[in-house]
Amino acid sequence: MYRTHTCGALRPKNINETVTLSGWVQKSRDLGGMTFIDIRDRYGITQLTFNMETNPVLCEKARQLGREDVVQVRGHVIERSSKNPNMPTGEVEVTVSQLTVLNKSKLPPFTIEDETDGGEEIRMKFRYLDLRRNPLKNNLILRHKLAIETRKYLDNLDFIEIETPYLIKSTPEGARDFIVPSRMHPGEFYALPQSPQTFKQLLMVSGYDRYFQIVRCFRDEDLRADRQPEFTQIDCEMSFVEREDILTMFEGLTKHLFKSLINITLDDFPHMLYDDAIRLYGSDKPDIRFGMQFVELNQVLQNSGFKVFDEAELVVGINVPGASNYSRKQLDQLIDFVKRPQVGAKGLVWVKYNEDGSIKSSVDKFYTPEQLKSCFEIAKGKPGDLLLIMAGETNSTRNALNVLRLEMGDRLELRKKNEFAPLWVIDFPLLEWDEEHQRFHAMHHPFTSPSGNTIEELNDNPSAIKANAYDLVINGIELGGGSIRIHDRTLQEKMFELLGFSQEEAESQFGFLMGAFEYGAPPHGGIAFGLDRVAAVLSGEESIRDFIAFPKNNAGRDVMIDTPSAIAEEQLTELKLKHDKN
Ligand code: AMO
Repeated sequence: MYRTHTCGALRPKNINETVTLSGWVQKSRDLGGMTFIDIRDRYGITQLTFNMETNPVLCEKARQLGREDVVQVRGHVIERSSKNPNMPTGEVEVTVSQLTVLNKSKLPPFTIEDETDGGEEIRMKFRYLDLRRNPLKNNLILRHKLAIETRKYLDNLDFIEIETPYLIKSTPEGARDFIVPSRMHPGEFYALPQSPQTFKQLLMVSGYDRYFQIVRCFRDEDLRADRQPEFTQIDCEMSFVEREDILTMFEGLTKHLFKSLINITLDDFPHMLYDDAIRLYGSDKPDIRFGMQFVELNQVLQNSGFKVFDEAELVVGINVPGASNYSRKQLDQLIDFVKRPQVGAKGLVWVKYNEDGSIKSSVDKFYTPEQLKSCFEIAKGKPGDLLLIMAGETNSTRNALNVLRLEMGDRLELRKKNEFAPLWVIDFPLLEWDEEHQRFHAMHHPFTSPSGNTIEELNDNPSAIKANAYDLVINGIELGGGSIRIHDRTLQEKMFELLGFSQEEAESQFGFLMGAFEYGAPPHGGIAFGLDRVAAVLSGEESIRDFIAFPKNNAGRDVMIDTPSAIAEEQLTELKLKHDKN
């Protein structure tokens, strides 16, 4: 038997027992007559003692142990003379009588501690060692519980988990597909699913009216902290539902996950129109843990001779509470911040509402104090506040001010890790105009139903149509998105036409789905959550990488197994991706 207990199990009640433990050497301390070794496994750490006087041979053997060696020990549990209240096993230790080295370890390239000395790159290369550390281990345990709680909750409500294929035909979700060549059909390819979207809709046609799946999805897109090329969705679909049914159901799931996993009770989620989110926060995923809503100031600040504002499509600001004492240097830093290419603003105007009621600004030349004070009135600002204003083309100005607002939220420590502000963003536009290709894109995906519009209205003014689509946003992160679907062939055909598909293209790519709509497709809708993102948000993190056991790095590479990588000539030839020279 390798072990009678784990390294996290022993307590005072075990005193005087003889136990066997197996694990990794965390650290060893040699105090002359005594050697102390911490032995670690998934469950915890136990202190082992070796006595030079009573067993010099064994003690000498223990002194030879290196970090991360795998050992088995047998010994006697005793009460510790100096107890460690920070460790669950801190009241006891094991006096070792037998020591077996199960496997030696090379010296690890970084320390296996909660705070490690290893850089990002080296930890990715030795991911299996990084995963030994508590922070990553705890993330994976949380992720596991998240999956279990999701399954329990949905199973209770009659959802059935059904697997859908990974080798499919391209589904347009806005990213590029990963492609898999077919050996048996040279020149033909499968695509890995960006999501199981069309399959879950077919399952509704089949009558499985409550489906879910915890499923891997693949998207060949540029990576960011919250994006991986393969990630996991909690993918859900329901029949005979309207938007409110879906929002209620999945608000319930979200509340359950927060309560059961981190003991947080969430209030009912507010609904915010997409247009309001953009107007008030410059983002379709607003962080509403803090205020600083946008205030539009065209009316007050245009036509006073300040060219930058006069010529701008939008003049818009945020009122930063309590920041009127910002120094010249701090303001210059903010100006530099917004001028960085990532933010892309041309400049920033500041107006201070000093504690004594006076006004000072970077545009004093152009405006009277009364004019500037009226901006604070609109913004509901008060003495002690600072107004930061940007101007220019509407979309880019809003984007830049959104970045500045989040930055100010960070600087004022208003984005607290243990605070959660969920909301539903609803009524997205159905279509997005793509300047470069001079055509419309579906903002969510082409299967999303327009909200309440008739086919005739689709013709008249396509860009004004709203989608029956919704996103769940928490703390500025999009955790999930979905929509009520089109379930009627004619409307689906119309949608493809608007998106610039010819009839033949639509038929060859989506004929299977439109065909299915002709065999009694029920009204249906659904949603998918990013499971990796939910896990990260539950932990107050923005990056999903450390919630995935073996993620890709920023360049989309797995540096541990070194992929993507070339394949053998023979494989290429077999797949007819390269012509055999013979
Ligand atoms: P959508 O494309 O909005 O919708 O994706 C749903 C959720 O999946 C997560 N997500 C990602 N997570 C990590 N890395 C990525 N690259 C990534 N891309 C998306 C996000 C997102 O909210 N089929 C539809 C859903 C539906 O309509 O039911 C879909 O996939 O959290």
